[in-house]
Amino acid sequence: MTNKPMIALDFPSEENVFNFLSQFHEPLFVKVGLELYLQEGPSIIKKIKEQGHEVFLDLKLHDIPNTVKSAMRGLAKLGVDVVNVHAAGGSSMMKAALEGLQEGTPAGKKRPALIAVTQLTSTSEEQMQQEQKIATTLEESVLNYAKLAKESGLDGVVCSVLEAKAIEEVCGKDFLKVTPGIRLSGGASHDQKRVATPSFAKENGSTHIVVGRAITQADDVVEAYHTVQAQWGGQ
Ligand code: C5P
Repeated sequence: MTNKPMIALDFPSEENVFNFLSQFHEPLFVKVGLELYLQEGPSIIKKIKEQGHEVFLDLKLHDIPNTVKSAMRGLAKLGVDVVNVHAAGGSSMMKAALEGLQEGTPAGKKRPALIAVTQLTSTSEEQMQQEQKIATTLEESVLNYAKLAKESGLDGVVCSVLEAKAIEEVCGKDFLKVTPGIRLSGGASHDQKRVATPSFAKENGSTHIVVGRAITQADDVVEAYHTVQAQWGGQ
């Protein structure tokens, strides 16, 4: 798996996706989320993979261990490179997810990386304390879930750039910290509350960045991608 910026393909249809991808003449790392996957199904993944791109399938699974294991077995067969679960599903669910991926990975292929969502970045500390009844700070909860994910054998977490350094201190440099909320300086922040530039993310412990609208809604998407890439480290 490379550390190219992951482009969030938040498009409603296959046609939009391939119009976007056809502007690039290089292999990319893309993120497919629920909107596109539920609309187009597994075939969209196969088509993107056939074009030589890496895929992070962002479905954030959270169910009983047996169900997640079976679902992951199927996702591994699709040849995706990264998948994820909610750490709140617990260590048995995370371990089951890993087993499912191992079982579903075709012989001779690499198992998809498995990362965990800790606390959603849309969750506020107040909401977490009042609704989830977790009586700590948001950062402590995020660190707790990151540790649990690591102990369960996972490869990393999705987190905010602002949490990446603390997670690095607890879980190490190799543990993946995939961070959304990335904007070019001077760009619109849209609905993201806490945004960071690619270079800030690099300096603050992110191992991968997820970039959506800063690229997909740019006037020149290829130029915007290359600007992000250059600021991220020219990979
Ligand atoms: O357009 P933008 O760069 O804000 O897109 C960010 C992408 O990362 C979206 O696909 C969003 O769903 C996803 N994401 C996020 N925050 C998280 C997890 C995923 O923004 N905590």
